[in-house]
Amino acid sequence: MNILLTGGAGFIGSHLVRRLLDRPEHQVINFDALRYSGNLANLESVQQHPRYRFVQGDICDQPLVESVIRDHQIDGVINCAAETHVDRSILDPGSFARTDVVGTGVLLEAARQAGVRRFLQVSTDEVYGSVETGTSSETDRLAPRSPYSASKAGGELLALSYWTTYQFPVVVTRGSNTYGSHQYPEKFIPLFVTNAIDAQLLPLYGDGRQCRDWLAVEDHCAGIEHAFLHGEPGTAYNIGGGNERENLTVAEMILDSLGQSKSLLRYVSDRPGHDRRYAVDCSRLRELGWKPVVSFADGLRETVRWYHEHESWWRPIKSGEFKRYYEEQYRRRLEEGTACGS
Ligand code: TYD
Repeated sequence: MNILLTGGAGFIGSHLVRRLLDRPEHQVINFDALRYSGNLANLESVQQHPRYRFVQGDICDQPLVESVIRDHQIDGVINCAAETHVDRSILDPGSFARTDVVGTGVLLEAARQAGVRRFLQVSTDEVYGSVETGTSSETDRLAPRSPYSASKAGGELLALSYWTTYQFPVVVTRGSNTYGSHQYPEKFIPLFVTNAIDAQLLPLYGDGRQCRDWLAVEDHCAGIEHAFLHGEPGTAYNIGGGNERENLTVAEMILDSLGQSKSLLRYVSDRPGHDRRYAVDCSRLRELGWKPVVSFADGLRETVRWYHEHESWWRPIKSGEFKRYYEEQYRRRLEEGTACGS
């Protein structure tokens, strides 16, 4: 299959590129705008691969999207391209609506016009909003609460409408919080790991008791691939790791594994509209034959080890544009924050 994978230079996308190239039947065309979190260094190992091509572009660029789909005779599309960080969506909501809703619409329409046989929209469990108790299943009402999750909900609803309206075979995945190597260090786990390596403070939002279901990137990519190949058109599939942990617990695990002191923890002012908890019921995708295999203890240990051994990957990122973002987002909050136990 000739697969157009958008956002393939990002965190989940680059893991998915490598996974798909491991199957001899796939040709992968990676279409990525290379904005702040897209990084071709994530793909060094496959750059010369005979079944891999890279095209730089934005999913909102309709003529370019149309020509890539036509020129490469694309059979299937996996849309991983997205603005993904909740905190940035609070600073700049417009760019989330543009990429995650309008861009998805451009891609859907170009794929439909070209007669593409399969379209997978990578979405998120955040579309369900904050779930105080129990787990979200795919038939639950969507109740997104941040500009990020609302934009992702818009994109996936547009995708599902293409099945209802045009019988265009769309599948949606709703993955939970993902972690692993090559994740841009603005997200919780890589930020805390890289800060801890440098003995810098770790900013815990609010009371640090928010809960996320942590999913290893390898398990997430296996779920995306499985839903892409075997999912029912017009259907959404939850993908979760089954590893619910409070942020404080994860932060302590990171400090322990690096031999750092808990005195690095700082409680800082909370994110506006912070979702307390996400938790998904994955039985629909399990019934289709997928299951997560990475335990959180092993996955986190491997992730910490990767960041420890790949400083040349993350140090240039943290000293560039990221530094300005970090100052704006954290400097004041850290000055006003409180230490753990005080
Ligand atoms: P994040 O990685 O931003 O994912 P999401 O908000 O999409 O779930 O954050 C994961 C959790 O960690 C979330 O509850 C917010 C919290 N968090 C902090 O406490 N401090 C931080 O500096 C960051 C980035 C996140």
